[in-house]
Parts: sequence; structure tokens; C-alpha cells
Amino acid sequence: MGVFTSLTRMWITRSFKGFDFSNTYENYLDYDDCKKLGLYVHIPFCEDICKFCPYCKVKYNKEKMDRYIDYLIAEIDFVTRGHKKKKVTSLYFGGGTPVLAIDRLEDVLNELREHFDITEGIGIELHPSNVTRDNLQRLKDMGFTKISIGIQSFQDKFLNILGRKNNDFESMFTLLKEFDFETIAMDFIFALPNQGFEDLKADIDTAFSNGANHIAMYPFIDFGFLKGNIKELSKNEKRSLLDRITNYCKSKGYVRDSIWTFSKNGRSSYSSMTRENFLGFGCSATTVLDDIFKINTFNISSYQERLGENNLPTSLTLNFTKRQRMVYYLFWIMYSTKLDPRDFYDFFGEDLKRYYGMELKIGKMLGFLEEKDGVYYLTDKGCFYYHHYEKYYTYDYINNMWGKMSKVAFPEELNIR
Ligand SMILES: C[S@@+](CC[C@H](N)C(=O)[O-])C[C@H]1O[C@@H](n2cnc3c(N)ncnc32)[C@H](O)[C@@H]1O
Ligand code: SF4
Repeated sequence: MGVFTSLTRMWITRSFKGFDFSNTYENYLDYDDCKKLGLYVHIPFCEDICKFCPYCKVKYNKEKMDRYIDYLIAEIDFVTRGHKKKKVTSLYFGGGTPVLAIDRLEDVLNELREHFDITEGIGIELHPSNVTRDNLQRLKDMGFTKISIGIQSFQDKFLNILGRKNNDFESMFTLLKEFDFETIAMDFIFALPNQGFEDLKADIDTAFSNGANHIAMYPFIDFGFLKGNIKELSKNEKRSLLDRITNYCKSKGYVRDSIWTFSKNGRSSYSSMTRENFLGFGCSATTVLDDIFKINTFNISSYQERLGENNLPTSLTLNFTKRQRMVYYLFWIMYSTKLDPRDFYDFFGEDLKRYYGMELKIGKMLGFLEEKDGVYYLTDKGCFYYHHYEKYYTYDYINNMWGKMSKVAFPEELNIR
């Protein structure tokens, strides 16, 4: 599929130039004038490591984590030095299992709040075993408004396939009823071997009737670099499951607010992905500022070493061409299934149709897009194909980049052609 992704990239960026990442970078990040800036903080510790998971994570150890948080705060301090306080959209803590750092989250928040004014809420990912009364209360007290729990499945047979331990979901449901977060999201992985629609329907019903107002249904992806042993289902099997999930959720009145997510009231989204610009802190965190992309090292010791030497822990950077930045923007914005040319204009000061009029026309002709009042929406068919082809980008881009970065702390370069 490498040829397909290369040709598509050349077509939509109108250039033979690939995404050429280098190890040279600036220690100063100029974010003062960046529009729609979000924040992301990565905390890479987990009690048990799941073999299927591609994220940057290591086994939890209290001492190591405390030390990591000290450096995380140092990174925030470094990046914000010399900048005035900046208004940002949202803040998300991801991982790993960031709630394992509950005793230190206040320190991180204080540091961030000193430099940023967060206007759209604060989210955090939890493992089901983190859902305790004490943790929920403390998150609430600290000002978290959105929580996302990695359920994967409520059923033992699928948890076993994934190598995840079962959890006491009943107690979790009881606790969730006691707390009022704006968003309670639950993550599921679907298209596992022998999984049928009835299994997924049961999980969706259980989630929505036990506290969730938002669910994410991620199709299982076998990341080659992890050398896992779970087989992906075929394209047709996945499509049939996704179609049935979509129709079922729609029949219940749930709103599809992104390719893989559905919400009960259409307002309670949880998404750390569709930020136009964002600053990322911590190992493996990505930062995107107008025409700059940078990604931090995946290696915790190297992350700390670089900061100790008074340098940013950046591993690779890329200076986007204008078209590359537009493609990056469109790629992530399409996750929300909605593309508003006015937002594109606000962000780039350019007319979307002038740059991508032909693609929009073709998308409409093929039944992938619908236009209503000048706004483009992905149809269900469009969502499926987006998600299907996105997978090839995940293999060629993310698998390639994360695979390399999980082995080498500071690669000299990375060329994605
Ligand atoms: C950082 S984890 C969530 C929080 C927490 N660490 C947990 O596992 O409960 C983010 C989510 O990515 C999804 N995910 C991880 N690996 C995946 C894979 N190989 N294919 C599809 N989804 C995956 C899972 O649904 C997971 O909950
Ligand atoms: S799925 Fe969650 S708990 Fe498992 S390794 Fe990934 S981040 Fe850690």
C-alpha cells in the first residue's frame, strides 16, 4: 500500500516532496500568535502493559514517575519562559495511564494554569482500575471536566484476547452515578476475532445505561512494530460491523460526532485529536504550531537528560509546506466528519475551494461527502472509506514513525515518501 499512500500524498500536496523530518530544532517555540491552540500532556506509565498498544508507555514505578513529573514541569516551564499568558482551548492528559500520577496532577495543572488560560475544559484518560471514589473526587476538585475510560470490552472473552484483566465493572458503574462530569467517555476496541454485532451492541447498551454519555469504537489495528498475535478482521467484516454499530447508535438517537465516536446528547465530545494547533508536553508528545511539527523523544531517560542539559526533548521536526499543513489540517478535521470552509478560511486565510475544489467535487460525486449550507459532511460511506484508508496512513506513517522512535531516542532523520 506504500505506493497508494505516496501517490495520494503527491496528489493532495501537489508535490513530490515527502514528509522529511530532521533532528535539528529550535529551543524557542513561538506560539504567541497561534490560533486555536490546545494543550496535550503525556504521562507514559501503566500498571500492566498491553501488547496491542502502540502508545509510548512503560511499567509504572512510583519513583520513576515522580522524577518524570519533575521533568515534565521543567519542560512546561522551559517552553513557556518569556511568553505572556495565552488563551488555549482545551487540555488533555493522555498516556499511558495518567491518573497513576494523581498525587502530582495538581502540580502539573498549577504550572500550566500559570501560563495558560484554559477555556474549554480539561480531560484525562483512565484505566477502569483507576475509577475509584477517591480518584474521581480528586479529579473533580482539580477541575477536570472530561474523563475517558479504556474499557475495550465488557466481556471476558475479548478482554482475554487483548490480554487485559477483567475489572469490577459493577462497582465502577455505581461510582460513576455519583459524579457529574460533563463528559464520561468509554473506549472500546472492535473487530476482534469472533466478535459479532450482538457483542458490540451489548457493550454499547451497557456503556450508555451506566454513566457514559460518549463512546469511542476503535477498530482493532495490528501495529506491525509491536509484533502482536491478534489477527485483524477483513475489510468487509469491519465494514459490516461499523455499519451496524452506526445504524444502531443512530436508531437510539446518539449523535456521531467523529468517525469512531458517538455521544448521547451531541455535546459531550472527548477528543484530543482534532486540535488545529497544539503544544504537547512529555515523552512522545507532538506539537503542531502553524507550519511546524515536532515530536518529543519516546525514551524517558533521554527526555530527562535533554531537559537536564537545558534543551527541549525534541526528537524530530518538520517544517510544513503550505499544502502539507493544509493536508494535515484536513486529515484531522475530517475525523469530526465535518468540514466548514469558514473555519478553513479563519485558519489559513485561504479559500478551501480554490485549493481543494476538485477533491470536494469528486468526494460528492462518489457519495463520500454531502454539502449542506456550504458545510461538507462525511456520509456513512465516506466515514467507512475514510477510516479504511486512514488505516494505510497509520501503517505507513504512524507505524513507521512510532516504530522507529520506540527504538531510537533521537533518529537523525525520518523520510516518509
Ligand atoms: C492510552 S489508551 C486509554 C487509557 C488507558 N491506558 C487504558 O488502557 O484503559 C487509549 C485507547 O487507544 C485504544 N487502542 C490502543 N491500542 C489500540 C489498537 N491496537 N487498536 C485500536 N485501538 C487501540 C484503546 O481503546 C485505548 O483505550
Ligand atoms: S492500552 Fe492503556 S493500559 Fe494498556 S498499555 Fe496502552 S496505555 Fe497502557
